[in-house]
Amino acid sequence: MKQTKIYGVYQKNEKLFTENLPSCRGVKVYNERLIHEKEKEFRSWNPYRSKLAAAILKKLTFTITPYSTVLYLGAATGTTVSHISDIVKDGTVFAVENSPIAANELLILSRQRGNIIPILEDANHAERYKIFVPSVDIIYQDISQRNQGEIFLENIKKFLKKEGIGIMMVKARSIDVSLSPSKAYDLVAHQIKKQKLNIIDIIDLSPYEKDHAAILLSS
Ligand SMILES: C[S@@+](CC[C@H](N)C(=O)[O-])C[C@H]1O[C@@H](n2cnc3c(N)ncnc32)[C@H](O)[C@@H]1O
Repeated sequence: MKQTKIYGVYQKNEKLFTENLPSCRGVKVYNERLIHEKEKEFRSWNPYRSKLAAAILKKLTFTITPYSTVLYLGAATGTTVSHISDIVKDGTVFAVENSPIAANELLILSRQRGNIIPILEDANHAERYKIFVPSVDIIYQDISQRNQGEIFLENIKKFLKKEGIGIMMVKARSIDVSLSPSKAYDLVAHQIKKQKLNIIDIIDLSPYEKDHAAILLSS
């Protein structure tokens, strides 16, 4: 098992892994593979189930530490959240999800993983969770809505620390079905640049996700 350039993310035979939290030893989240090496337990991270894993395999690099605080928008049932929870083991993941059914799964996950704070809310209304979410090091968003750019920028304005980073998963067809994927990514990139944020990278997620890209920015 080799540490990658990203803290807490490991690679073995072209596959990604995170080290399972000690409190969750033996526990799977989405039927991922558990493997053991040097008394540590690692969870396989499936790039077809997690766009962040796909982006990392496509060479996305960013700074994350065991103490990072992350605001995660569009957490669903917690597949990707669980791997971020492994990475920021002494930090916190504030996980926002507006579907009550998915948020219930997140709640169950947060009982096993003390560093996840599930929030049943609409990310369009950042002011509603402003009272429990502090300024964060990383904002990650995976929401396939037409106004995903606006949602991301509003949350960045309210929660991203100076010199923090933002990672947005863009679904081209949600932006505008009539545009080619690259034109849709440019449109979102233009929105971001207008806010004086720096785009560091735009990574197409194929073959893991069709017509999706990861946009990495810094404040
Ligand atoms: C593509 S899924 C996310 C998958 C998840 N990020 C993962 O990798 O495990 C998108 C999620 O965003 C949620 N969502 C959509 N609009 C939202 C909004 N306005 N606020 C919060 N969550 C939203 C959906 O309910 C859905 O669970």
